[in-house]
Amino acid sequence: MQTKLLKITHTQQDEAILKEAAGLLAAGHLVAIPTETVYGLAANALDPKAASAIYAAKGRPSDNPLIVHVSDIREIPPLVKQVPETLYRLAERFWPGPMTIIMEKSDLVPYETSGGLDTVAIRMPSHPVARELIRRSGVPLAAPSANLSGSPSPTCAQHCMDDLTGRVEAIVDGGSCEVGVESTVLTLCTTPPTVLRPGAVTLEMLREVLPDIRLDPGIFLHLSDDRKVSSPGMKYKHYSPKARVVLVRGPLEAFRQFIDGQSGDFGILCFSGEESGFSRPCIVYGVKGDAASQAKHLFDALRKVDKEQMKLVYVRIADGEGIGQAVYNRLLRAAGFDEIRL
Ligand code: TXA
Ligand code: MG
Repeated sequence: MQTKLLKITHTQQDEAILKEAAGLLAAGHLVAIPTETVYGLAANALDPKAASAIYAAKGRPSDNPLIVHVSDIREIPPLVKQVPETLYRLAERFWPGPMTIIMEKSDLVPYETSGGLDTVAIRMPSHPVARELIRRSGVPLAAPSANLSGSPSPTCAQHCMDDLTGRVEAIVDGGSCEVGVESTVLTLCTTPPTVLRPGAVTLEMLREVLPDIRLDPGIFLHLSDDRKVSSPGMKYKHYSPKARVVLVRGPLEAFRQFIDGQSGDFGILCFSGEESGFSRPCIVYGVKGDAASQAKHLFDALRKVDKEQMKLVYVRIADGEGIGQAVYNRLLRAAGFDEIRL
């Protein structure tokens, strides 16, 4: 398959691009599209064949459900058994935006899309191109992150091309993603509601609407393989470069001493401004104390680790509030929970 690259230029030419991409989606094809979080590998969520094609293109296990993207709240009632009253309160506050909500699904949503579950994850993205493509294609769009299963999520069109050229009909290039980590996932199917994946809509923000919402323990703990996980995505190794990733927590001086004591071939992931003085190759992922900048650059940095063919990388980590929790969660998974505390 030849993959078309359709570039958004913010000129009149965008009209033809949006029309072409929406036409492909309406016809059941796969198109990688920009969202404010990460790029999504989109297809008609109500078409079992299109949904199955997503799993095949990504090499994704068929029991890992897809997120269904809508552009208007009125698209939701047909997709779910019933709309919980809390949905409207959450939507009013955080949609369109980086929040995904799990509810009981209706028969309209095929099991191919829900990964065999009786629930469905729904999100209304804020990215204007994503919204326009949903609207124009006339169907809700199933879209997992547009990476090969297991590799870091894509935050620009080049990442999608690296992973999916020859596997999808088109890639819409809408520039770099603003947030850089995937949406916050929460379920309204538990009492109290539970956050299954941290993101830019933080626990503190959600608590303003749902005071009793809690974090699933699987977010920061290594669950044994036989334990039942609340979200299929939790049991798969994620966001990983091919290199071995080890997190190192502690003050910069202690980190430098730790690095000096290591032998062999390895690289370093650190905060910008810290890279001088290391005798090893360094990749930076944002500014210390600025978790939003770390989120934005994290996946690109993890991809560079492989591009530079590092076999082992030590990652400097620091406590992060808010979206820092999402950054730490993604790093823990990339590292297979391998963390050293100095
Ligand atoms: O920001 C995002 O959410 C991006 C963009 C493209 O919207 N999408 C994304 O999709 O990250 P994906 O498939 O890479 O991650 C979806 C996560 C997976 O961990 C999956 O297991 C979980 O959400 N999930 C989806 N539906 C679920 C359900 N019904 N029950 C439990 N977990 C679910
Ligand atoms: Mg993903």
